[in-house]
Amino acid sequence: MEAQAVKTNLVLILDFGSQYTHLITRRIRSLSVFSLCISGTSSLKSITDLNPSVIILSGGPHSVHAPDAPSFPDGFVEYVESKGVFVLGICYGLQLLVEKLGGEVRVGEKQEYGRMEIEVLKESCGLFDCRKIGDKQMVWMSHGDEAVRLPQGFEVVARSQQGSVAAVENPGRRFYGLQYHPEVTHSPEGMATLRHFLFNVCGVSDGWTMTDVMQEEIKVINEMVGTEDHVICALSGGVDSTVAATLVHKAIGDRLHCVFVDNGLLRFKERERVMETFEKDLHLPVTCVDAVEQFLSKLKGVVDPEAKRKIIGKEFICIFDAFANDLEQKTGKKPAFLVQGTLYPDVIESCPPPGSGRTHSHTIKSHHNVGGLPKDMKLKLIEPLKLLFKDEVRELGKILNVPVPFLKRHPFPGPGLAVRVLGDVTEGNALDILRQVDEIFIQSIKDAGLYDSIWQAFAVFLPIRSVGVQGDQRTHSHVVALRAVTSQDGMTADWYNFEHKFLDDVARKICNSVRGVNRVVQDITSKPPSTIEWE
Ligand code: XMP
Repeated sequence: MEAQAVKTNLVLILDFGSQYTHLITRRIRSLSVFSLCISGTSSLKSITDLNPSVIILSGGPHSVHAPDAPSFPDGFVEYVESKGVFVLGICYGLQLLVEKLGGEVRVGEKQEYGRMEIEVLKESCGLFDCRKIGDKQMVWMSHGDEAVRLPQGFEVVARSQQGSVAAVENPGRRFYGLQYHPEVTHSPEGMATLRHFLFNVCGVSDGWTMTDVMQEEIKVINEMVGTEDHVICALSGGVDSTVAATLVHKAIGDRLHCVFVDNGLLRFKERERVMETFEKDLHLPVTCVDAVEQFLSKLKGVVDPEAKRKIIGKEFICIFDAFANDLEQKTGKKPAFLVQGTLYPDVIESCPPPGSGRTHSHTIKSHHNVGGLPKDMKLKLIEPLKLLFKDEVRELGKILNVPVPFLKRHPFPGPGLAVRVLGDVTEGNALDILRQVDEIFIQSIKDAGLYDSIWQAFAVFLPIRSVGVQGDQRTHSHVVALRAVTSQDGMTADWYNFEHKFLDDVARKICNSVRGVNRVVQDITSKPPSTIEWE
């Protein structure tokens, strides 16, 4: 990963596989300090290139004695000492420091998992600000091994109520260690400890702001893209690609060319709504391609969800290819760069930590609608959001004047309504019915002030009919399902518990105003065992 957006005061996390590692990154960024996380087994060069002020060694599921125990690279200790870099080991990170610097780590007599009280043993130490000897605090532990002998020059500054080492330090060499997890909320004083450590012990200064990020990224883009180069971007109507395109547009102006594809699988008035935002609010140079026929004719009769996804991916590529060729005709130059709205979690996901059992994969994410690009396009990637988390992208979007309601939009899958009409999407007027039902549901959620508390809400068209009675007539009409979930990241989710009155109103409104629907059901499964989408 380039250090282009990094100036000074970087807190670098070496990830040894703890489930909490990315939380440390988030917590530190919440103190307006820039923090990055890279694999714990990264080369020394990747670490020194980033020029960190502080390095945190994360926790991890390993024992330092395991044959494949991950460790920082050779030369690491010499590097941090010669450059005056502060090092904080957390959990496994503490044990790794102790072991590597000549101390001893053993399987603990008593393992410590969960809440534990610790007691401060040394006054005015670097880790615990103004805490007196004997002061106690609750922390969150998660370890089997423990440090039983410290390297020379290290001191125990806190122990757990069971007597094991909870915090160590060697201020002269700038090494510190916490056996517990200060980053989790179950360690109520953990944030204060991190804050004190970073600002008062390491002398890091805050001031990392989204405005800095924006300016730095614009500089990087201008250095990367030649003054004659053209850049293309596929807009999905989602937050990430929109913010990425807006940022690149601010940097290089109308040498950016965006394409938005109406594939016939968009939501109610989606094309008009997003095009208005792109053109009126953001002044983005966007070509809207009407490919409704092209997509729907290819999808006719297809019922397998994966087959639908593949067809849609392939058509997107054809359109993108044609768009790039047109552009070459117009400008006389092949486009040289492609903008993607890749986020930091996507980058982390494709660089899994050691011992996680996952393999590295550097594929272009399919959810950006571009799928796999034709190899002969040879486009270089611009990924201006790749160091940011979703909420940081929203903040950046605000600075770039992307309208706030747009930034808060629920996620929408790349294959669109194709995965929400079960079975053949072209059958009857399924897509139209779904659009109307979905609009009523979403508008009702907005009217009730619930939109921002829900991760994602939508309607699903079921390929069945049921008997009903409407206006003294028996009907044999369609069934639609409503799905609304809460979630942090879409990986797990719980169904949203609406009030009965709300559901009653929505169901009545749908049946009264959408011709062809006589039954509304609600999906009340979490993920797992279900997924959020139905296909
Ligand atoms: P699932 O259904 O897997 O969805 O629980 C998790 C999140 O991913 C979105 N999703 C997709 N997004 N292409 C996308 O771009 C897809 O094929 C796709 N399938 C699911 C889904 O809307 C939810 O936010």
